[in-house]
Amino acid sequence: MMDTLWLNEENDSLVIIDQTKLPNTLETLEITTPNALYDAIKTLAVRGAPAIGVSAAIGMYAIAKRFETTDITEFKARFSETSEYINSSRPTAVNLSWALERMKNVLKGCTTVDEARSSLKRECIAIRDEDIAVCRKIGENGASLITNGGVYITHCNAGRLAAVRYGTALAPFYVAQEQGKRFTVHADETRPLLQGARLTAYELSSAGIDTVVQCDNMVASLMSEKKINGIFVGCDRVARNGDAANKIGTHGLALIAKHFGVPFYVCAPYSTIDLNTKCGADIVIEHRDGDEIGEKWYNAKMTPNGVSYYNPAFDVTPHELITAFVTEKGVLTPRQL
Ligand code: MRU
Repeated sequence: MMDTLWLNEENDSLVIIDQTKLPNTLETLEITTPNALYDAIKTLAVRGAPAIGVSAAIGMYAIAKRFETTDITEFKARFSETSEYINSSRPTAVNLSWALERMKNVLKGCTTVDEARSSLKRECIAIRDEDIAVCRKIGENGASLITNGGVYITHCNAGRLAAVRYGTALAPFYVAQEQGKRFTVHADETRPLLQGARLTAYELSSAGIDTVVQCDNMVASLMSEKKINGIFVGCDRVARNGDAANKIGTHGLALIAKHFGVPFYVCAPYSTIDLNTKCGADIVIEHRDGDEIGEKWYNAKMTPNGVSYYNPAFDVTPHELITAFVTEKGVLTPRQL
């Protein structure tokens, strides 16, 4: 399978798989302007914390390459302004501001526009390469938690489509499969945008992994009927105390897992840990348009006129419910992070 996103070095553009079209159509989008990058992130054409970060880095290089100026002060000012605009596209995943900050930092020592463009190119490639290496390491560290014949649950999509190549929560499954293990992964449908049904099911089944899809409200029933060996989810921001924000529904899944004694693993690169955020209550949660609940997937509107919607895109799982974080540095308890 191709990477989720890449830098087209022939014309210095960002190319992403358009995830709004999956699983029925595999199409790519070429991005070179601030509005196109903002829209791609906002509409979830590219989504998942690491993929958002890497696409912002490559996208900002593509945009800055096209700034029509030879004045380094003006170049830096335009870069900062555009970067702030891109950063406002989605608030919860810390990887977005983390990647934009890294790109901005390399400009500090640059004295010419040519030098600035080369430095931005080098940095966005480094951010992409690090994502691939770090996710691979998460996969290797997490694979030891997967047993032959095991049955697992995942929520939303924290697989290769949420990063450049391996993903976080699904990386351990890919590595375990390479090691010859066979197992089953249950993907929560993930209302309202169906990342589990559309994306996780697509990527796991295309990789030849036994995949089952259930609606989000079926997991307690599933755990009461079947031995589940573990739950693997990704995350968008980890606070200093180990509370972790991830796709809406993750907190409920963790509570049910606790009830049934199922280990609950949050897979995350260190770039998702936000030392500036003390605890989960301080994480800004994105709220999205209610049409996603009432209309998006239906031929006709599914709710009566006049109702309003509650549509948070993420929730926060308290650290007490997390068995361990699977990171590039190892499998660590929230206190060991
Ligand atoms: O709204 P999305 O699809 O961007 O949400 C994605 C998630 O919640 C993922 O689990 C998270 O970003 C981790 S991706 C490795």
